[in-house]
Amino acid sequence: MLKIGVLVSGGGTNLQAIMDAIDTQGIPAEIVSVVSSNPNAYALERAKNKGIEAVTMRKRDYADAKAYDIALAEHFKSRGVGLVVLAGFMTILGETFVNEFENKIMNIHPALIPSFCGDGFYGLHVHEAVLAKGVKLTGATVHFVSPITDGGPIILQKAVEVLDDDTPEVLQKRVMEQAEWKIFPEAIRLFAEGKLQVEGNKVRIKK
Ligand code: GRF
Repeated sequence: MLKIGVLVSGGGTNLQAIMDAIDTQGIPAEIVSVVSSNPNAYALERAKNKGIEAVTMRKRDYADAKAYDIALAEHFKSRGVGLVVLAGFMTILGETFVNEFENKIMNIHPALIPSFCGDGFYGLHVHEAVLAKGVKLTGATVHFVSPITDGGPIILQKAVEVLDDDTPEVLQKRVMEQAEWKIFPEAIRLFAEGKLQVEGNKVRIKK
């Protein structure tokens, strides 16, 4: 059974959707540890409520970024983690960590990559930029993490309508409900069932 490590920083609604899907949809996987970069993240409570190990590891408590990467990698390796899931993790991971788990780290981005992504596009800023541009469709993307921000192989995407009177907050909620909470568990299921095949920058989904 696949062992999953989850990195969080905030409310953890994606973590909740993944935990629920594992319980109800028979995904052959188990979350073995949830690590937060923020000691006050509600995501930690969600994990504890499920009896899952929940710990805080902050970059500022380590000598430098590389030492943090090494500590995180050791934490997950010692628990036999085969997939690392970034569920609203607001800390940048370095090459040391990314290379250790090549094509075994998944992230969710709240827009349709390659639009509205890269440095500076996180949280509400993404939805503000979408509204400022006036696009009619946005959505969410699950992708493998590479050393380039939001640049790794795309696994799943789902489009969501932008409505005339949307605020960034209203749009963020719709993107979560209609896209993020659906495609993230689905991508994890495909990975757990061995159905994702990475070919260069493309991901082939096996039947
Ligand atoms: C989500 O919008 C996700 O796309 C972004 O951060 C937010 C996390 O929300 N990267 P939550 O902590 O899962 O509720």
